[in-house]
Amino acid sequence: MTALPTAEGTAAAGRRRRAPDPALPTGPEKTAQVRSMFDAIAPRYDMVNRLMTFGLDIPWRRRATRALALPAGARVLDLACGTGDFCRLLGEAGLRPLGMDLSWGMLAAGRSGRPLAQADAASLPLATGAVDGIACGYALRNFTDLGLVFEEFGRVVRPGGRISLLEVAEPDGGLLLAGHRIWFRRVVPVIGAVLSDGAAYRYLPRSTAYLPSTSVLRSMLGDAGFSTVNHRPLSGGLSQLITATRRGGG
Ligand SMILES: C[S@@+](CC[C@H](N)C(=O)[O-])C[C@H]1O[C@@H](n2cnc3c(N)ncnc32)[C@H](O)[C@@H]1O
Repeated sequence: MTALPTAEGTAAAGRRRRAPDPALPTGPEKTAQVRSMFDAIAPRYDMVNRLMTFGLDIPWRRRATRALALPAGARVLDLACGTGDFCRLLGEAGLRPLGMDLSWGMLAAGRSGRPLAQADAASLPLATGAVDGIACGYALRNFTDLGLVFEEFGRVVRPGGRISLLEVAEPDGGLLLAGHRIWFRRVVPVIGAVLSDGAAYRYLPRSTAYLPSTSVLRSMLGDAGFSTVNHRPLSGGLSQLITATRRGGG
């Protein structure tokens, strides 16, 4: 799912952060629920995604691909690749993508034709420094232990390599914020219920409560070995892009 409502996205949005929802799962229970939820929604994931973002997720992914700023032929991990939209665009940009996801259902629904593997982001089946970069679309809030996942980023990305992470966000204010809230908190769950799985699309807006603030994300990435952490809102704050460089490159 791409543009679901969130209490995060910008520093201002960070001040509006909702209290964590005590009913949201944590630990192994979260991993199991996330996995079965994506298995369930996989067959219609792409269609619902396009509808709920008005197709904006494609330009956002293109922007994230350019922001990697890696040369043609670079090996890029599309982490939590889902049905492989990022894999397709990375390949079109001349990069060499490899997709990994927790959900067999999402992997099976993919048509990217790129190499894929089932894996948990917290324990990647890759050697140290094996990739030139990581692209990750709309998955940070789904990870059970984001700190562990960022440590894995730091381990598998070579020194000087790049990461480009897309996540949901919320506009700062005004009509865009009001419209966004109605659309993603009220309308998208109904669309999801009609076309896919009601429980999943009711859960997804709530899952944004897992997202740390921008400043916490910056400091977590710094701790994991990344520098020049850059955060930009996209399309007026409907989405957010975080890029960073693995320390230690020449
Ligand atoms: C919202 S979807 C995004 C899929 C794709 N990146 C996109 O942009 O359309 C989140 C994806 O994260 C995957 N995921 C969740 N937890 C994961 C984990 N611990 N390790 C790997 N993938 C995970 C889910 O299976 C799902 O495919």
